[in-house]
Order: sequence, then C-alpha cells, then structure tokens
Amino acid sequence: MKYELIIVGALETNCYLVYCKDTLSCAVIDPGAEPDKIFPVIAGLKLKPIMVLNTHGHTDHVGANRDIIDRFHVPLLIHAADEPWLKNMMSSELSLLLDSKESPPPDRFLKDRETIRIGTVCLKVIHTPGHTPGSVGFLGPGIYFSGDTLFNGGVGRTDLPGGDYDAIMKSIKTKLFMLPNEVKVHSGHGIATTIGYEKRSNPFLQ
Ligand SMILES: [Fe+2]
Repeated sequence: MKYELIIVGALETNCYLVYCKDTLSCAVIDPGAEPDKIFPVIAGLKLKPIMVLNTHGHTDHVGANRDIIDRFHVPLLIHAADEPWLKNMMSSELSLLLDSKESPPPDRFLKDRETIRIGTVCLKVIHTPGHTPGSVGFLGPGIYFSGDTLFNGGVGRTDLPGGDYDAIMKSIKTKLFMLPNEVKVHSGHGIATTIGYEKRSNPFLQ
C-alpha cells in the first residue's frame, strides 16, 4: 500500500490518495476542496481512481466529491449515518468560502469492519461515532486514516450538530486504542501520530 497526502481548502483538510503500487488503483479519501490540487497528483502518479471514501460528511471533507466523481465516474462510499450531511450543505456564502460543491449522493454505505479492496490493498472500515454519528476510519497495514476522530494531541470536536462527546471517547478507547501501539495515525487535519503516542500523551485521553 502506498499513499499520498494533499492538503486542501481553507480548513487545511488532509485528502489522501491510497493506492496499490501494482495496479495503481486508488481510493480518494476526503476530497474536501481544491480539486485542481488533487488532479495533478493523480495524473503525476498515473493513478486510476476507483472510489471516493468519506470519513464523515462535514463540508470540508466532501466539498470536492463532485469534481472527482464527475471526472473519474467512480462510486462514493460513506457511512449511512452521515448521509444527511451530504444532502444538507451549508449556506452558499460558506460553501464559497470553503470552495465546496454539493456532493452527489452516495452509491453505497460503509459498514463497520467491512474490508474495502483497492487493487491488492485492503482497508478495514472502523465505525467511530462521536465527531459525527457516521464517522469512520480506514485501517491499512500499520496505518490508520482516522478522519476527525483522533488527532495528534487532540480529539474531534463534538459541539457541532450530531456530535457526542461520550461516544467519541468510547470510540477512541474501545476501538482505536485496541490497535497496536506502532500503528501510524493519519488524521483529517494536522500532522501524523501513532496509537502509542496518543495513548501516552494525548491530554484529552489521560
Ligand atoms: Fe469534521
């Protein structure tokens, strides 16, 4: 498995291209904005997108779903509990500010513990409600894409509609902290970390 990080939009969302080096099949995780930054990376690596994966439905993670899907005609996958966020985009002023377009509807819903195949790469879906009800992460070999659930030194905010503090704490403690310490965590914003480092030092989880 290989991946590429592209930081997009005013909220500096981490968009990841996760790909199989043998087939060059690629999943686009959270194309939040600035498709014109994403397209050249796809072209430069000669990747073949086969799906868009959203860790959750917030605007800054889905704002370029439309552009990726229109260009590559690929399916959109998100957890069912976050489907309302795709339909219910914010005001036009905010979408202009965030360079967000309304997302197409999902083609299929992600389920907890299912395996997503990208060429020879397997990603396991982990449902981690709390930041939103349908927040998920994707576990690859030694690497976890956590969306806005777990950050380097932080946890996702739960003060937005659908947020649930107790649920995010439970998701992190009972699901993510069960992963091996050495698993590298790539969040929806900011720099990478590891499960072990967050267990030891994340101030919200001591
Ligand atoms: Fe979010």
